[in-house]
Amino acid sequence: MKIGFVGIGVMGKPMATNILKSGYELMCYNRTKDKISGILKKGALVSNSVEDLIKWSDTIIFMLTTPEVIESTLIKNIEDLDIYEGKIIINMGTISPSFSNKLKEDFSKYKASYIDAPVSGSKKPAEDGKLIILTSGNPTIVDSLNPLFRTMGNKITYCGEIPKASMTKLSINLLILHMMEGFSEMINFAKKGCIDLNSLFEIVLSGQVSNDLFKMKYKNYIDQEFPVQGSVKNGIKDLKLITETAKETGAYIPLTNLNHKMYLKAKELGYEEEDFSAIIKVLENSMQVLKC
Ligand SMILES: NC(=O)c1ccc[n+]([C@@H]2O[C@H](COP(=O)([O-])OP(=O)(O)OC[C@H]3O[C@@H](n4cnc5c(N)ncnc54)[C@H](OP(=O)(O)O)[C@@H]3O)[C@@H](O)[C@H]2O)c1
Repeated sequence: MKIGFVGIGVMGKPMATNILKSGYELMCYNRTKDKISGILKKGALVSNSVEDLIKWSDTIIFMLTTPEVIESTLIKNIEDLDIYEGKIIINMGTISPSFSNKLKEDFSKYKASYIDAPVSGSKKPAEDGKLIILTSGNPTIVDSLNPLFRTMGNKITYCGEIPKASMTKLSINLLILHMMEGFSEMINFAKKGCIDLNSLFEIVLSGQVSNDLFKMKYKNYIDQEFPVQGSVKNGIKDLKLITETAKETGAYIPLTNLNHKMYLKAKELGYEEEDFSAIIKVLENSMQVLKC
């Protein structure tokens, strides 16, 4: 199987590297060319055009950001869409259920098989090959792709027909974005009351509310550094997708609407490219009542 990988970003880079390590032939494309040099050294082929990559590949994975970026990269900028005929196209990014349905329709027009396979996890689980991969689409094709998915993840869950994988993924992200804001709010609250963060984390990370997300992020708050695993920018993108989807389904999401405003504020303050745990800076920038 010849794999084409479009989008060598924070997540795409470690995912593509793991595919390569497992012995698949791999061709990569990324808009910003210097981000691709590392994987080129590891033996991947690199394409300067998405069209050439599609022609070369049997299976094309894309790990891109917004619906606009996906459409322009994979559809609008492709002169001859017949090159998709007979190929398997896999979305692994976080997209909305309605956009996933649209991609299914578009790719079926081009006689390609579309599979939805968003991932749960961030940069570190991607590096460790420990992503959770949620799959939707033709079950026979999904089954045939499981060995490929296992190069990137250690749990592969079939969610049913398209777009159930994307709906499941957005539901999980709704919770994760709240968890990060809640963790940040707890830390800011404790700091204002002059509580030592190390003792706070010792309690929180050993008790009932401990989880892998908090364990992965707590050092950011001690070091006051927020190296990107999952960006504020993508958090805002996901909150927009969740809000739009809730409007379509009629789900009531009052806290999510508030959280959306918090993340937009983080963007306004210039933290868009930082890790989404940098949401604490929005709280820290608000009125100070007590100095410790
Ligand atoms: N990071 C996480 O923790 C995480 C976890 C699970 C799922 N996801 C989802 O996975 C997807 C990728 O996330 P990521 O963190 O890897 O994102 P990222 O690093 O910000 O970007 C991913 C890719 O999108 C490309 N891109 C962005 N804007 C573009 C444009 N205008 N034209 C062409 N290409 C463009 C980037 O190219 P350049 O290098 O040229 O900018 C990069 O290759 C997103 O849907 C995200 O929500 C992320």
